[in-house]
Amino acid sequence: MSKKCLTMDKLVTHCKSVGFVYPGSDIYGGLANTWDYGPLGVELKNNIKKAWWKKFVQESDNSFGVDAAILMNPRVWDASGHTANFSDPKMDCKSCKSRFRADTLIAEHSKGEVNPDVMTNEEMEQYIETHHVNCPRCGNHNWTNIRQFNMMFSTSRGVTDAGQDIVYLRPETAQGEYVNFLNVQRTSRAKVPFGIAQIGKSFRNEITPGNFIFRTIEFEQMEHQLFCKAEDSERFYNEYKQKAWDFVISLGFSPDELRFHDHDKLAHYAKAACDIEYLFPIGWSELNGIHNRSNYDLSRHQEYSGKSMLYLDPVTNEKYIPSVVEYSIGCDRLLLACLCDAYDEEQLEGGDMRVVMHFHPFIAPYKVAVLPLQKNLSAKAKDVYKTLSKKFMCSYDEAGSIGKRYRRQDQSGTPFCVTIDFDTLEDNTVTLRDRDTMEQIRMSVDDIAAYVEKKLEF
Ligand code: GAP
Repeated sequence: MSKKCLTMDKLVTHCKSVGFVYPGSDIYGGLANTWDYGPLGVELKNNIKKAWWKKFVQESDNSFGVDAAILMNPRVWDASGHTANFSDPKMDCKSCKSRFRADTLIAEHSKGEVNPDVMTNEEMEQYIETHHVNCPRCGNHNWTNIRQFNMMFSTSRGVTDAGQDIVYLRPETAQGEYVNFLNVQRTSRAKVPFGIAQIGKSFRNEITPGNFIFRTIEFEQMEHQLFCKAEDSERFYNEYKQKAWDFVISLGFSPDELRFHDHDKLAHYAKAACDIEYLFPIGWSELNGIHNRSNYDLSRHQEYSGKSMLYLDPVTNEKYIPSVVEYSIGCDRLLLACLCDAYDEEQLEGGDMRVVMHFHPFIAPYKVAVLPLQKNLSAKAKDVYKTLSKKFMCSYDEAGSIGKRYRRQDQSGTPFCVTIDFDTLEDNTVTLRDRDTMEQIRMSVDDIAAYVEKKLEF
């Protein structure tokens, strides 16, 4: 199937029907733009996180992990600039009371030809007026002026009303890495350049979330901050651009469906920023970001916390506040890209069609499905299942024809199906079917684990 035939609607239906992703709070009619991961989705997500951690922490000799609190001292968000600046330009439709981002309205109206990132609010208002951009919901042209809308979710802590303080659900995980710079450096005896990585939930009150799990109000980020000398930051920025690219390629993506997008508009402190974009069914869209942030983050935390962020170089005795090269990727966003990339509809001999998810085996939710050819082989099949489950996530299925069971595993993306037949009882061999080629080979039960393990290498 050409990937162009995959629509977001088709993917959402597939995900819901086989158990990757369900609408959040489904039995109550859902809650807009929240999603729950089902049995296949949670495995896929865990494996994507494992793959990322492996490449950016485990295989790096100078990166360390943290798992910081979601609720942070509100001063963190003053220092980071989120309290003052983390806002989107919103416009309300006075007719139907719907709220939209002005920049999204312009990008969609101009089909990507106009870049609203470089426009002021006044310029955006003027564009919307002169080009008669109407409300996408009711079709009227009856807008309020643009107002900035802070996207941080707030909540309050304290047991009495008097003691209540506003705290924020973090809108990015990065600040948990910056505020632990001194702790990690000290406890790990880390020498600059070194990195701090974190995977965790972030929350943003997005005005126009949507497109399935592409943009949601609650999502997971995988972020890595590399602390380095200012003069090395450009080199590390280019290195992380390449590492970020290589990571997605190693998951099986084709370079034809990825591209770099360098930012035209930079924050005042930033030296460079770019995204890697993926060709989603909705068009080219951001998958991740790489940013050369100068020493802004640690300088601001020094200013607001009063704690010195100076690093003393043990070799040169130089003292400086390290610069940061940030690499940030949404786990859900990458998972969506993996789903899009893996989805295929294949015409089979005899006129049948199969939906198959060609995941890289490392991220596939289940690695092996154990299928007894007939129900009276289930005792042996369950033995095999028990042995293999000690090593991998396995699925067991004895319902329906073997053909139907293969199709079910293809839809889930299980790379290997092990079929137990009457010969298995005689000689302890099985057939092992490859999801992608559909070829079957005969092998001893004792050799399955080593064979699969080799294929899972990442
Ligand atoms: N610390 C830097 C930072 O948060 P960002 O560009 O705002 O940068 C980084 O976000 C990545 O997080 C994005 O490239 C995207 O993959 C993901 N992301 C951001 N907002 C998201 C949302 N509302 N829903 C899902 N993923 C999101």
